[in-house]
Amino acid sequence: MDGRDLVRSVKAVGSGGAVQGLRTVRAAWRRRRTDATGLPRRGAERARVPGPVQSAEPGPGGGVVRFARTDLRITVAVNGAVFWGWDGAEPEPSYALAGRCPEPDPRALLEPDKDGGWRVVAERVTVVVSRHGAIEVRTPGGVTLRRDLPPRWWEPSDGGAARWMQRSEVAADARFFGLGGRASGPRLRDGTYRLWNTDPGRPFGPGDDPLYITMPVQMVVADAATHLVFLDTSWDGTVTLREGREGAGSGHDRAGTSEMRMDGGPLRCWVMVGTPARVLLVWASLTGAPAVPPAWALGHHHARWGFGSEQEVRRIVAGYQERDLPLDAVHLDIDHYDGHRVFTVDRERFPKLPLLAEEMRRHGIRLVSIVDPAVKAEPGSPVFDGGSAEDVFVRDASGRVVEGVVWPGESVYPDFTDARVRRWWGRLLEERRAQGFEGLWLDMNEPVSFTAFGENTLPRSARHALEGRGGDHREAHNVYGLCMARAGYDGLRNLAPEERPFLFSRSGWVGMQRYGGTWSGDVATDWPGLRASLSLVLGLGLCGVPYSGPDVGGFDGSPSPELYLRWFQLASYLPLFRTHAGVRAGRREPWEFGDDVLEHARVALVERRRLLPYFVTLAHLARRTGAPYVRPVWWGAPEDRALRDCEDAFLLGDGLLVAPVLDPGVERRTVLLPRGRWYDTVTEEAYQGPGRVVVDVSTERIPVFARAGAVLPVRGEDGGLELEVWAPARGRSGGGLVVRDGGEGWDEPEAERYVTRWKGRRVVVRQDGDKGRTEPLYPVRVRGLGHG
Ligand code: GLC
Repeated sequence: MDGRDLVRSVKAVGSGGAVQGLRTVRAAWRRRRTDATGLPRRGAERARVPGPVQSAEPGPGGGVVRFARTDLRITVAVNGAVFWGWDGAEPEPSYALAGRCPEPDPRALLEPDKDGGWRVVAERVTVVVSRHGAIEVRTPGGVTLRRDLPPRWWEPSDGGAARWMQRSEVAADARFFGLGGRASGPRLRDGTYRLWNTDPGRPFGPGDDPLYITMPVQMVVADAATHLVFLDTSWDGTVTLREGREGAGSGHDRAGTSEMRMDGGPLRCWVMVGTPARVLLVWASLTGAPAVPPAWALGHHHARWGFGSEQEVRRIVAGYQERDLPLDAVHLDIDHYDGHRVFTVDRERFPKLPLLAEEMRRHGIRLVSIVDPAVKAEPGSPVFDGGSAEDVFVRDASGRVVEGVVWPGESVYPDFTDARVRRWWGRLLEERRAQGFEGLWLDMNEPVSFTAFGENTLPRSARHALEGRGGDHREAHNVYGLCMARAGYDGLRNLAPEERPFLFSRSGWVGMQRYGGTWSGDVATDWPGLRASLSLVLGLGLCGVPYSGPDVGGFDGSPSPELYLRWFQLASYLPLFRTHAGVRAGRREPWEFGDDVLEHARVALVERRRLLPYFVTLAHLARRTGAPYVRPVWWGAPEDRALRDCEDAFLLGDGLLVAPVLDPGVERRTVLLPRGRWYDTVTEEAYQGPGRVVVDVSTERIPVFARAGAVLPVRGEDGGLELEVWAPARGRSGGGLVVRDGGEGWDEPEAERYVTRWKGRRVVVRQDGDKGRTEPLYPVRVRGLGHG
């Protein structure tokens, strides 16, 4: 038992008393015993490398290159992504792909290269395979972006899954991003990152890794181009990164390296090359378009573990209303369940939930329910009995149902990797709908089982359906949350086909954006925690998951008024804007931190509401283009090295740059601006990029800049849509997109395109549509004119 295990069991004891503590000890032993008998013993292993090339067979979009001890399939897909798989690995089946694998691009051909190697030339990328199985990814201009050395396998001599290792080199100037949600990013520095979704068991900070969502996805940004590489395997593994260094003077460059080691699973890879926007467009076409949340989910959410009663929920809602503070959703945590049993309600403390929901809805406030995967193992309770009758719970290798320990005590786990089980679970959501809930907050789905020592999840030998292929938890673990999110999304869709489902899930994997978003989990209440929460949102966005946000104020303890306010201000510009905290944490309502904080929080809430049409537009653009709402400042200029290293600001769509305050006592801060003119959105003062500017910071707000020429849809005083136009620099033009929808349904309106330019001494705005340029449909307000 290391220190962490101790903390975990103390947490478990604390949350359920000594009985729960004993349970976690028993669970740990049980888990260990199950794996001792259920997993093949690792005996002697034989190492293998591809060996010399022997032959090649061209095929659609590429072909197969045969080596002495393996073969390699390469296919360029019509969307421009390149697939390769070793040892006969094909793109399907895959949990990551949104549908079938895209068709091969018939124009891509396998041709002989020099020295006995082979190459595939596609429109945006050339892939060169050496005679010993090294693979180079090059730009059409011939610059090498990545060089994968020949892989190496270790095969157990008596059969079973082979371990493998893939070492790659990237440009000396390249920076790594991604790998799912990492607290220490967004730029991933030298170190080893594990690929195993994990509840850290206590509030986390930048030093904690891995967390709830890990993905074998790297976005690599270098002078020559950006590329995204995805090693499509869900097994446990690690990625060790080392940034390169450029030699000064006559010194040599040292390449950056990435070394991926996996405990099993296929060695197959997708690569896409281009600008960041291009790469994420291809990525979304491969792994799925991000779900568009209903408009209310782009407002402000308030949650807490431990509201404890309907009266308390009413008190909180009234608190917002009396102070005229915008509120769009309230989330109920596990304390509203009867004894922590999912799909029940504590009728004493929440006697009339549907009525409460109805009342809130009349005020435009929606109710969201937490749902954990684990079901209390308790004969006589309907969900357990129903699930047992339908045989939905995960079993071990001997056929016994696996028991873990979670909030309700001894619990069992639906096998979400089985379509039949997903349907069963989806039908249970009818109970949630009947209670008045309109959205789902999926939690503990790494999945967690508290244990006094060892890993806090299911035994590795636990069996899973894996869509009929069959396999064990080593392969299913990382996709468990993804499959639960799918069950939730499909379930909600079946129950209310006319509404866009809303869900966000703590754990997940590549492709989870198809079903919803996520949040940052139990982030520690301190300044590093605040920084970590931005890192997670940015990193996940670059992995294709654009909707997320932190627990404002952190999960534990009590933030200082200053920390709370800075968190609130930052989160008001993030897709998921939610206050939440743990059961023993201090209060998180904006009025609990004094009058100043309340007034400044009000400013943030009102501004968020004003920007709602912009957020709705960004949600639709994310769906159509894969571009996250929240983007690193290098998004449009990845070749700018200073921007590549900037981690304390972000772009919100194309139009805004947000420079949060991430440290205490800040009175001035440096902001690195990309090229062009930027206006301070409050003073309208103009700044010129690229470069660093120093701005004064007050407690009232965090600095936000608008790009000259931006056209932003905002909510006017009367609630109608308005266009906020930031004057282009003289002689320049600008523009922006607006997507308006009904807020909840499936309509996919056309994006309205607006352009703006100087005409004499005036800035004019026109809609650019089928009928040419016309007057905009909405009132226009031009800002930044003092500096034209
Ligand atoms: C987990 C979640 C947290 C939730 C708590 C109780 O720690 O991350 O958000 O409040 O469980 O359900």
